Amino acid sequence: MEDVVVLDRIEAMKDLVDANLEAIIAKQTAIYGQVAEVSGQVVLAGGKRIRPILVMLAYEIAGGEDNEEIMPLALSSEFIHSATLVHDDINDESLTRRGQETIHAKLGQAKGIIAGDWLFSQGFGLGGRYEQSVVEVIAHYCSKLASSEFTQIDHVLDLSTSPEDYLEIVKGKTAGPFAAGCKGAAMVAGASKNECELLFEFGMELGIAFQLVDDLLDIRGDERMGKPRGADVYEGKMTLPIIHALTILHGPQRARLAEILHDFKDSLFDELITLLDFGESLKYSEILISNHLERALSKLDAFADCDAKQLLKHVVHVVQNRHS
Ligand code: IPE
Ligand code: IPE
Ligand code: MG
Ligand code: MG
Ligand code: MG
Repeated sequence: MEDVVVLDRIEAMKDLVDANLEAIIAKQTAIYGQVAEVSGQVVLAGGKRIRPILVMLAYEIAGGEDNEEIMPLALSSEFIHSATLVHDDINDESLTRRGQETIHAKLGQAKGIIAGDWLFSQGFGLGGRYEQSVVEVIAHYCSKLASSEFTQIDHVLDLSTSPEDYLEIVKGKTAGPFAAGCKGAAMVAGASKNECELLFEFGMELGIAFQLVDDLLDIRGDERMGKPRGADVYEGKMTLPIIHALTILHGPQRARLAEILHDFKDSLFDELITLLDFGESLKYSEILISNHLERALSKLDAFADCDAKQLLKHVVHVVQNRHS
């Protein structure tokens, strides 16, 4: 496939997902009123749709041929993801998401929490229609997402957090759901155990890189993200560049970094970046991102060449170079 055809196909998949989401939200709003309306606005505000696209491509590379068979699982991943975003923004006290004011900022915390619950219900309504083994995979990794978010809270401003602690949290909160979506889709396609496992690992490696990139972009800042810069630092979240710098720096520099983390404000961004650069900590994260993406690609080696394989490789490339 030529590069332009690859882009067209990804765009067409995104459009298909968007059209399905729009139809569901319109129907549900007629039934459930404001909660569906405001939750729907978040869903339709425009996400990258990387999770549903991965579900569809994992299904296809695993031999699936019926879009209608996999669409509910793909949509379910986007609803569940949106639910976690709505709750995450309450916990992270974030005022913008996908370039719009967050629900809790607009309507208060109580309605924000309930809107997240509504989105979860939609997600499970769509995903719950598959075989029990598929539903169990998805439910398990959603549960792990919650337990990892708990662990993340326990590590807030814990300057002794290790890279291993961080990796466990990232696997749970982000990469696990990517992996579960890919594996679940392969199971629906009737793939072999080995293929299901390879796609699970593909999703896990890609998901780890995805969160590492998100954490880097949070520090560097990019208005295309549609969410505020530095939210993690304000929150006291121990992300990899910070964990790395705390290990590499010593003496007054480390002390200053600790001080900045404890009482962060926008005017300290430049100083923070200088310290992270001194420890080559942003570069360290970039190297890890490349490593995980290489590993993700290697999981596809066992699959015969096909359009879906090329499209999955393209998604890997997009994750490496994304700015939003
Ligand atoms: C944001 O996810 C939350 C993370 C796991 C980093 P996305 O970056 O996929 O957000 P949308 O769906 O495109 O808005
Ligand atoms: C995403 O982590 C984890 C979720 C499961 C929602 P973040 O807290 O980094 O997500 P953003 O940066 O707010 O999108
Ligand atoms: Mg968070
Ligand atoms: Mg957040
Ligand atoms: Mg983030």
